[in-house]
Amino acid sequence: MNVLILGGGGREHTLAWALSASPLLDKLFCAPGNAGIADVATCVDLNHSDHQAVIDFCARENIALVVVGPEAPLVDGIVDTLTAAGLKAFGPSKAAAQLEASKGFTKDFCQEFNIPTARYSRFDNAEAARAYAREQDLPIVIKADGLAAGKGVIIANHEDDALQAIDMCFGGSFGAAGSEVVIEEFLMGEEASFFAFVDGRTAVPLATAQDHKRVGDGDTGSNTGGMGAYSPAPILTQDVCDRVMSEIIEPTVQGMVARGTPFKGVLYAGLMIDAGQPKLIEYNVRFGDPECQVLMMRLKSDLLPALIATCDGVLANFDLRWSDDAALTVVMAAKGYPATPETGTEIKGLDSVDDDAVEVFHAGTRMQDERLVAAGGRVLNVTAVGSTVSEAQTRAYSAIDNIDWPGGFCRRDIGWRAVQRER
Ligand code: AMP
Ligand code: GLY
Repeated sequence: MNVLILGGGGREHTLAWALSASPLLDKLFCAPGNAGIADVATCVDLNHSDHQAVIDFCARENIALVVVGPEAPLVDGIVDTLTAAGLKAFGPSKAAAQLEASKGFTKDFCQEFNIPTARYSRFDNAEAARAYAREQDLPIVIKADGLAAGKGVIIANHEDDALQAIDMCFGGSFGAAGSEVVIEEFLMGEEASFFAFVDGRTAVPLATAQDHKRVGDGDTGSNTGGMGAYSPAPILTQDVCDRVMSEIIEPTVQGMVARGTPFKGVLYAGLMIDAGQPKLIEYNVRFGDPECQVLMMRLKSDLLPALIATCDGVLANFDLRWSDDAALTVVMAAKGYPATPETGTEIKGLDSVDDDAVEVFHAGTRMQDERLVAAGGRVLNVTAVGSTVSEAQTRAYSAIDNIDWPGGFCRRDIGWRAVQRER
């Protein structure tokens, strides 16, 4: 069968790599793709917001499955339009994508279905928000309601910072995303990510991961889309995973059914774990990037039938096999990321990475006059497996040391919590 992936980041390169190993696959397309994806798929220029253009392309190329990578087209309802046109698309409907698109929606949903999360309040004007913030204990978390590319969350340690964050949201710093604000209790603990395929009624847990959101070593500096990840996350023991399924994922799946908007696709729960108790920080309605990279390195089963079973609502009795190995990915970003990444710089030396346990997934790359150049903030994901996180880490960094890219940088401590535990 022919498959179309929408997206062009490291997550989509990883999905393309995993799908291209499937014996069920004939032709793979990716829109827009990138220089690495071009090795395993045909990259095509399609505007995701032009749903009719996507439908026409699928008809022309006989596409049996569309896999939507990023959140924007999901929130824009592309799965609804493709489904209405008789196409199979992996990902949630627009209504179910509200779990990521609106923090207020998700907080109310958690309250209604008794899902453990931080105490909160919603506001549509600055004055009420300021009054509420003044009465709360510090630190306090101020969130723009909508999609703000990971920038709409401010953890305020002082009242002044909280008030300033509220003014920024309502003052338009996050565009329409900030016209509503959620203020919530600061949760203590260790963060981890949990993923599940959901076919409407049934949830199948995937693997766990831990991301590194800050740009600098030691978790310092600005927030980013993620500078590296590893899987599994040791804090998510089997016991905690069981609790995540029964207290968070299952009630979400059932709650979405009860509301008449069943969720299909991959549900990504951002969690805070404190003394074995998981609480939901946020939902995403897609694979994490770069968490997808480490998940796919550990997936032993064929990804393609799993995506189809999710779309078809037949996940009950579906089994996925995972490697016991650990996987770790290090993001190489263009200097200046996240604020002002410098693009166009040449990357050399990828051919010298010849370790079978390492895959280099491309994010923002393109070919220019037969040279590979940086074309975005996050550029490469150097991903390795090993019997321990420490081993995967050593492999990933020795591959990085062979890459000749003066215009790039990476964190040198990805995986530090797990490595510390392993010592
Ligand atoms: P989000 O965009 O909701 O994932 O938030 C970005 C980051 O802010 C999370 O990954 C957490 O590190 C942090 N965060 C968000 N909400 C809270 C909270 N209630 N307590 C502590 N940290 C939080
Ligand atoms: N790595 C975080 C995310 O994909 O949202």
